[in-house]
Amino acid sequence: MTSTAANGRPAGDLAIRHATAADAEALSTFAAHVFHETFAPDNDPVDIQVYLSDAFTPEKQAAEIADPSCVCLLAVVGDAMAGYALLRADTTVSSVVGNRSVELQRFYVDHAWHGQGIASQLMAACVEATRGRGGATMWLGVWERNARAIRFYLKQGFTDVGTQEFRLGGDLQTDRVMTRSVRDEG
Ligand SMILES: CC(C)(COP(=O)(O)OP(=O)(O)OC[C@H]1O[C@@H](n2cnc3c(N)ncnc32)[C@H](O)[C@@H]1OP(=O)(O)O)[C@@H](O)C(=O)NCCC(=O)NCCS
Repeated sequence: MTSTAANGRPAGDLAIRHATAADAEALSTFAAHVFHETFAPDNDPVDIQVYLSDAFTPEKQAAEIADPSCVCLLAVVGDAMAGYALLRADTTVSSVVGNRSVELQRFYVDHAWHGQGIASQLMAACVEATRGRGGATMWLGVWERNARAIRFYLKQGFTDVGTQEFRLGGDLQTDRVMTRSVRDEG
C-alpha cells in the first residue's frame, strides 16, 4: 500500500537533496512551523516566541547552508518540503567521546508525514553524509519530554550517553544526549 500525507502526494515520491541558498527562505518557514507544532503545546508561548525569533530566520538558515562545517539535507515530496536535517561537525559535548563525531543538530519531519518512513530515509541520508565527512559517530540532544523523537532515535540505534542543558527562552530544560555509530557493519 502506498501511504499518502495531507497533501495527497505518495511518500514514495520522496527525494532527499542538499539545501542550497535558494532554499533558505522556505526552510526558515518550514523549520519554524515544525518547531511550533511540536513544542508549543508543552511550553510557555513567550519562551517559544523568544526561541523562534532567533533560531530559524532566513539569514540563519542561509548561514548554516553555506557553512562548510554543516550539511543541510531536505526531504521533499513533489515541490513540498516534508523534512530537514542539519549536521554539524564543529560542536562537541563532554559525554560524547572521540574526535570524529558529528552532531545531528536538527531533525524535523512535518507532522503530516509522521509514521510514513520519511524520517528513516532522511536518517539514512544523514548516516551517509556523516560517513562521507569521515565521521564515526553521530550524536544529538533531544528534549527529555519528546517521547516520539526518543522512541524514533532508539529504533535508529541511538543510545543514551548523558544529558545537557537546553535554554528555551527563559526555561532551562534537560536534553538527553544520544549517540550511534555510523560505521558500515557490512
Ligand atoms: C522525530 C521524528 C523525526 C520521527 O519521525 P516519525 O515519522 O514520527 O517516526 P516513526 O513514526 O518512524 O517513529 C516514531 C515512534 O514513536 C512512537 N510514538 C508516537 N507517539 C509516541 C509517544 N507519545 N510516546 C512514545 N512513543 C511514541 C510511534 O509509535 C513510533 O514507534 P513504533 O514505530 O515502534 O510504533 C518526527 O516525529 C518529528 O520530526 N517530530 C517533530 C520534530 C522533532 O521532535 N524532532 C526531533 C527533535 S530532537
